[in-house]
Amino acid sequence: MPLKIPEIQSPERFSELTLTREMLEDALRGALMKIDLAIETMDGAFPSAASKNNVYQPTENTGSWIAGFWTGILWHAYELSGEEKYKSLALSQIPSYTKRINERLGVDHHDMGFLYTPSCVAAYKITGDEEARRTALLAAENLAARYQSRGGFIQAWGALDDPTKYRLIVDCLLNIPLLYWAAEETGNNTYDKIAFIHFNTTADVAWRADAGTYHTYYFDYESGKPDYGATKQGASDDSSWARGQSWGITGPILTYAYKKCERAMHYFKASTNYMLNRLPLDYIPYWDLIFGDGDGEPRDSSSAAITICGLLEGVKHMEESDPLRAIYYNAACHMMSSLILGYTSRTVREANGLLLHGTYTRPSGNGVDEMNIWGDYFYMEALHRMLDPEWKMYW
Ligand code: GLY
Repeated sequence: MPLKIPEIQSPERFSELTLTREMLEDALRGALMKIDLAIETMDGAFPSAASKNNVYQPTENTGSWIAGFWTGILWHAYELSGEEKYKSLALSQIPSYTKRINERLGVDHHDMGFLYTPSCVAAYKITGDEEARRTALLAAENLAARYQSRGGFIQAWGALDDPTKYRLIVDCLLNIPLLYWAAEETGNNTYDKIAFIHFNTTADVAWRADAGTYHTYYFDYESGKPDYGATKQGASDDSSWARGQSWGITGPILTYAYKKCERAMHYFKASTNYMLNRLPLDYIPYWDLIFGDGDGEPRDSSSAAITICGLLEGVKHMEESDPLRAIYYNAACHMMSSLILGYTSRTVREANGLLLHGTYTRPSGNGVDEMNIWGDYFYMEALHRMLDPEWKMYW
């Protein structure tokens, strides 16, 4: 049965809200001050995934999935301010990505898009830097090599011949734009095919009938048949981890941007409505969508920032006559206003990041009610999208 798009339960919550240019520019000034502080405190290193007591620690570009967000923040800062210092710092980081892929430093996983799109693809799109292009293409090749034809998906983590690791995760919808881009750039359609098969397999298995998403989904190693959904970072296998739902909003609309495929638009709307129906009073989700006001659980501000970007991408492609279009634009404004007024780090002197109250992984207690670097990245992207609707996206 095709996935049903849930009705918006309280459309009045998404009435028109004007975010003035003045307010957005003021928010940008605040963000740039914090980026400057991060540059100073990082002294050439990369900020950690999550802060400790609202301070990021310096790390190398060798492990994890997050380095690209810092470089991406610098690209947004450069494009929005025109200040050369952001561009030269971002460009100076590109060789670390080249070294990383060439020497295979922490690249045996699927997060090539998160790592290489906001850093290297952005560098190439903005400056034409050839090393950045070559490096991003190597990352795309690495990502495509994780494609499992039995099942038709890109395996998230672990050895490709390990039957216990035979699964996809919904987050990967943000990695596959790297493949669409690589196909356009090289003319090699295999990248596009793998990305689109992966999108369709994810759509087949990761959405439940009510349009909430599984975080991860296992396949049978021998037959490739879909097996079962399970969470890694959510509250339970059957709940919707807030950030996973946001990946399930922004991911499909990025596939739509490349493929103009109605199924991607449909899944974008279904997951969006599921999320909008579960937003607390201030529009910023708790870390898992089963929680609401009064449950005493932490928020994940990054989920809001990711969602805003998806909504703003969506309204670019939706028909003016579509009644959801205004709701989505207004929802983005309500979420953004709430982030700017209640979640930015402006008043926290020592904070060297942008958005407070993110949650990395609540079950393991990692980065709970802290800043996280992807929240900061998507907040900058959201500001950019609002200040310049013509922004040429890095994805
Ligand atoms: N993609 C990993 C995360 O969202 O935490």
